This record gives sequence, structure tokens and C-alpha cells, in this order.
Amino acid sequence: MRGMDKKLKILTYGCQMNVADSERMAGLLKKIGYTLTDDAERADLILINTCCVRATAEDKVFGQIGKFKSLKREKPSLILGVAGCMAQKEGANLIKRAPHIDFVLGTGQSSEVARVVLSLERERKHFVDVSNVSGEISSEVFPLRGGHVSTFVPIMYGCNNFCTYCIVPYVRGRERSRQPEEIFAEVKQAVAEGFKEITLLGQNVNSYSGGMTFAELLSAVDKIAGVKRLRFMTSHPKDLSDELIAAIAGGENICEHIHLPVQYGSDKILQRMNRVYTVEKYLRLVEKIRVAIPNVSLTTDLIVGFPGETEEDFQETLKFLRAVKFDAAFTFIYSKRSGTPAATFASQIDDATKHRRLEELMKVQNEISLAKNLALENSAVEVLVEGASKTDDKIFMGRTRSNKLILFEHGSEQAGELVSVKINQAQTWLLKGKIIHSSDVA
Ligand code: SAH
Ligand code: SF4
Ligand code: F3S
Repeated sequence: MRGMDKKLKILTYGCQMNVADSERMAGLLKKIGYTLTDDAERADLILINTCCVRATAEDKVFGQIGKFKSLKREKPSLILGVAGCMAQKEGANLIKRAPHIDFVLGTGQSSEVARVVLSLERERKHFVDVSNVSGEISSEVFPLRGGHVSTFVPIMYGCNNFCTYCIVPYVRGRERSRQPEEIFAEVKQAVAEGFKEITLLGQNVNSYSGGMTFAELLSAVDKIAGVKRLRFMTSHPKDLSDELIAAIAGGENICEHIHLPVQYGSDKILQRMNRVYTVEKYLRLVEKIRVAIPNVSLTTDLIVGFPGETEEDFQETLKFLRAVKFDAAFTFIYSKRSGTPAATFASQIDDATKHRRLEELMKVQNEISLAKNLALENSAVEVLVEGASKTDDKIFMGRTRSNKLILFEHGSEQAGELVSVKINQAQTWLLKGKIIHSSDVA
């Protein structure tokens, strides 16, 4: 017999959207009596929310599923479920490969999780539903949010872009936008729970189409009382409108940071990736953003080793990076995803070349990131206090409006407060500083 206090362990892989989905599923499962635990061994239900964007993400999940096999043998009442993008992609194959999995739930069915678990509590049999990848977004949401200061609010799901390397459109379905009223209500609810920073999420957040433009939505959320900081991700360059740039420039609490994945720095590869812009167009966009929002921070994603990439293409990308000077870049090695067009492209790049190019790319970008951060030394920045740092509780951590991580010596400040910090040391991925008290300023 299951008692009333049932324990749930959730493991989340992949992007912020998966974090948000996990919080939603945890909220639904709470309604049927599950409370969260960190300890898988004490769990009555283990839910793995998966990612399949690269082979490495899938390998991690398979490793994790394997680890739970013995746990399941020791405790047959344990329910093991797999949700998220890999569940959507693999469906029943997951159970064929690992029969100790009880259920597989696709991305479009995540709001069904409580119903599925209740039925498995009553009668144990394998359950798979990946039937509707573009499933309706449930308006009944009561996410069990992690953290205390900063949280995610999804505003749209899915992707229609079909970049030739990417699995996301196949596992997340077509673009669907939530209604503004529903988004406002959720933001207000998060603020009431004490959250200070809201990040609006979408695979292509700026192609939002819920009856108003993304710029209008962003400006409206900016006006909600209690939202101290507002962020959004991920933006596609093709949808970054002048209206949106103006909204950011004119916003009150909208942070001056745009994550704007470029993916590559040569037209030939961009075209083969189906990114629908050229290097020149992207550069012009960056220029326009920097004129309108002078202190903007720009970050990006890049993929090396895309099929057909020549040394010349790669050198062009290095040149491009030196020209743009991103604040930071997330760099990935191309991973062949079966079912995507690029998986069948000729001239796949060998592993050694991919790794060498990644190293070189990172070296160039790290120099740029460091130089950008060094230029901030001795300046004062607004920091949202997140809490004690992981390694030293005398040191606090927080983020600048530009989304840079900063460590600082603290006084009586509390998590969730906005403080002014003077930067006294800059590193590639990190800033260090000291709080400026109003008495120091006077
Ligand atoms: N919707 C977002 C995020 C997509 S996934 C966007 O369009 O930017 C996050 C990043 O993973 C992408 O920006 C891309 O750089 C990377 N990525 C996607 N598919 C990949 C693949 N097959 N191999 C390597 N990196 C990939
Ligand atoms: Fe993938 Fe491209 Fe869609 Fe981003 S825009 S999720 S990279 S297909
Ligand atoms: Fe991964 Fe799915 Fe996000 S594939 S990156 S978890 S949308």
C-alpha cells in the first residue's frame, strides 16, 4: 500500500524549457500526493525529463536509466517514467531497450503525467504515449518552482524553423503560443511566490504570436508590479524586429541582454543549415542593436564540424567572432541526429577535426570574453542577489543585468535584493566584486 506521503525524484536534462516542464509536472504530481526528494533511493516515483539535442545528451540519459535498474529490482513498487524530448523521439523503443521503465510520455502529453501515474499505481503495465507532439498546452498550470529568486515562464512551445541539424522541431512540434492573459496571470503568481526575475521562454521566443507581438508582450510583462528583472530566450535572428529592439531599449526592467544564436560565421554553411540569414545581415542586426542599446550584452551559440565545413569556412567563423565580439558563446560539436536533413549530407567531418576546431573556437572566444570582462573592472553594476556561493557561504553570488555571474563579499543583503557592486576582478566566465553601500557613494 502506498501511504499519503509519496516521494518524487525528478532528473532534468537539456534546456530551460525542460526545467520549466519539470516544474509543471512536479506541480501536477503534487496534486496527487507526491512531494519532492533529492534522494532517488527514497523515491516512489522517478521521472527523467530528457534531452536529445546531441548524442551526448542521450548517452547521459541512457546511463541514468541503467543506474535505476538495480533500484527497481530492490523496490518493485517504484515507478520509473521517462518524459521530454528523448521520450518523444524514441517512444516505445525506450522500453524495448530498458524494460524496467514503466512509462514514456512525449512532450505534447506532459500535462497527462498525473493521470498516467495514478493509473500505474492501480495497475502496473507499460504505458507509452507520444502520439501528439504538438499537443495543446494545458492552461491549468501550478508549477512547483525551484529556486527562490529567478524563474521561467514559457510563452510558446515548438519550432517551425527546421534548421537542418536540429531535432527540436521533430520532438517539440509546431509553434504554439500561450494567450497573453494566461502569461500575465502566471507571472503575477510567480511574483506573489516571491520571485524577482522572470525569464520568458520559447524555442523561438521572438516569433510569439498569441494575439500580440513579442515586443508588446514583453513591454506588458515589464509593467507587472514586482518584476524586478525581465529576460527572454531564445531569439532567432530572423524575428528580431526593430519593435523588439525598441522595447528592450525603452523597457524599465528588461535586461540588456540578448541571446542570439548565430550558429556559424560563413554564408555557405549558414545556408546549408537553413538559418535564413547571411553573415552580413547578422552583423547589421548586431550593429543596430548596439546603437539602440549601447550597454547591451550579446551571447550566442555556435556549432563546429557541420557537414561540408572546410578550413576556409572555419577561418571565416573565427574572423566573424573577432568582428562581433560576443560577451560569451556556447560552442558545440555538430552531432548527427538521425531524421534531420543534415544527417544525410555528404562530407561529414571527422572527430579529430571537430575537436580541434572546437578548441580553437573556444580559445578565440575566451580571449574576447575575458577582454570584455576586464573592461568592466572598477565599474559599478546592478546585481540581483541569488544567495551564498556554492563553495563559501561568506561569499554571495548574483547576476548582472547583462547576465554575468558575479561573486561578492556580502553584508546584510538578502537573496532577491538588487545591490550595487563594484567589480574589482574579472575572469573569462566570472566577475568578482564588493558591495558599494550607500554610505560609500555619499
Ligand atoms: N531554439 C534555440 C535552441 C536550440 S538547441 C535556438 O534556436 O537557438 C540549443 C543549441 O544547441 C542550438 O542553438 C545549437 O547551437 C545547438 N544544437 C542544436 N542541434 C545540434 C546538433 N545536432 N549538434 C550540435 N549542436 C546542436
Ligand atoms: Fe533548432 Fe533551429 Fe528551431 Fe533553434 S531555430 S530549435 S536550432 S530548428
Ligand atoms: Fe534538449 Fe529538448 Fe531542450 S532536445 S535542448 S530538452 S527542447
